[in-house]
Amino acid sequence: MALPDKNDTKIVAIVGPKGGVGKTTISANLAIALSKLGKNVIAVDLDLGASNLHTLFGIRETKASLDDFVLNKITNLPDIVMNTDVNNLRIICGGNIPGIANLHYNKKLKLIRNLSQLKSDFVLLDLGAGASSNVVDFLIIAQDGVLVTTPEVPSLLNAYSFIKTLIFRRLALHFKQIEQKELIELLDKARDFESYPKLKTMEGLIEAVRSINVAAANSIRNFLTNYKPIVVVNRARSEKDADTGKVLQNLMNQYLSIKSSIILSVHEDTAVGIAVTKLKPVLLAAPRSLFAKDIEMIAQVLVR
Ligand SMILES: Nc1ncnc2c1ncn2[C@@H]1O[C@H](COP(=O)(O)OP(=O)(O)OP(=O)(O)O)[C@@H](O)[C@H]1O
Ligand SMILES: [Mg+2]
Repeated sequence: MALPDKNDTKIVAIVGPKGGVGKTTISANLAIALSKLGKNVIAVDLDLGASNLHTLFGIRETKASLDDFVLNKITNLPDIVMNTDVNNLRIICGGNIPGIANLHYNKKLKLIRNLSQLKSDFVLLDLGAGASSNVVDFLIIAQDGVLVTTPEVPSLLNAYSFIKTLIFRRLALHFKQIEQKELIELLDKARDFESYPKLKTMEGLIEAVRSINVAAANSIRNFLTNYKPIVVVNRARSEKDADTGKVLQNLMNQYLSIKSSIILSVHEDTAVGIAVTKLKPVLLAAPRSLFAKDIEMIAQVLVR
């Protein structure tokens, strides 16, 4: 149940339950913001099959990409790390082979292992949308997760379900590891909380776990205490929009016992679209824009 060990490299996963919410835009600009703070950064395009992170840096031709690694054309992941025009910032371009998103499990494990061995102050993972195994499996190696959502209620509810899915997956993994069938069954019941209302909240679930295995219950509590998801409400048009993150924070607190989530917001900003047409990241094209300031705030949180 422990969070991954902290070594010198901090791996940050950028995720989102929905497509098009701004994961890649935030990944690219966050990478620049961190590099401006003097950190060495590798941004990795893990939106396999639909990669476009490089285009945000104005890179049209990818010399090497994850395709080469997945197809065993290149054995060492560091060999496909490319320099960018930004100091301290390097990138691993994504793959575009059709079907690459359904990586064979062993290949995925190899990629995950190699990613966790990259040497840099920060490794940012721009992941695909949703909570499929191709997203969540990569989260195991991340010390921090940035969940990107937009302010609309359906989007926030998706974000809540996403976090719940992640946590349940962690619990399932842990229960499998300790080989306790009763706990796995309990988790299945908690998924069907309409039939088992006592298991609707994490507190209820922890209580039920405690009656079966005290150590497992303590371990869940410990995990939740240390779990500090960063939620970014992107494309906020008003203060009210920016505040909607609190709805999610309350839900996470009430139903999932996550007490220390961090809620940030990023303005809707025309500078983003303008930068895209210039083939330049916003932080370089419009460093004083509201968007840039918001991204710098996220970077500050990550370096703390
Ligand atoms: N804060 C913002 N202000 C204005 N436009 C934005 C903002 N954030 C993102 N966009 C625009 O939204 C669109 C989607 O952004 P992006 O590609 O980063 O999303 P994504 O979550 O990575 O999508 P996908 O799931 O397809 O990978 C882009 O056109 C981008 O320029
Ligand atoms: Mg994307």
